[in-house]
Amino acid sequence: MTAQSAAFLDDLAPGSAMTVSVTAADGSDLLLALVRAQDGSVYALDDECSHGRASLGDGDVLTERGVCSVECWKHGSRFDVTTGRPLGPPASQPVTTYPVTIDGEIVLVDVDSPVRT
Ligand code: FES
Repeated sequence: MTAQSAAFLDDLAPGSAMTVSVTAADGSDLLLALVRAQDGSVYALDDECSHGRASLGDGDVLTERGVCSVECWKHGSRFDVTTGRPLGPPASQPVTTYPVTIDGEIVLVDVDSPVRT
C-alpha cells in the first residue's frame, strides 16, 4: 500500500502534535502521533509511549540543541521524532516511526513501511 492521507497540514501547527488513525494494508487501524517541528517538518510515530499507556499525540513538542522531540505527558520521557528513540528515562525502548510526505496541504504517512531503531 502507498502512503495514506493522515491529516491536513493546516491542522498541525508548528510545535504541536496530534493523534490520528490510519488503516494499514492488512486492515488494522494504527494510532499515530503526528508531530510538526518548529521548522515545519512533520514526523509520524506510534502514538502509544513505549513506557506505558499514554498518547504521545497529547505530548509537548520541544526542540533542544537542534533535536526535536515529543515529551510523554505521563512521566516525561522525550522521544527523538526522527528516530523514535527515548532521550531519557523512564522509557528505555524506542517507538516505531513512519515515513511522511507532504502533498500540497495533505500529510501522507506510509504505515506499511515502519522504521524500527
Ligand atoms: S508512560 Fe510515557 S514515560 Fe511513562
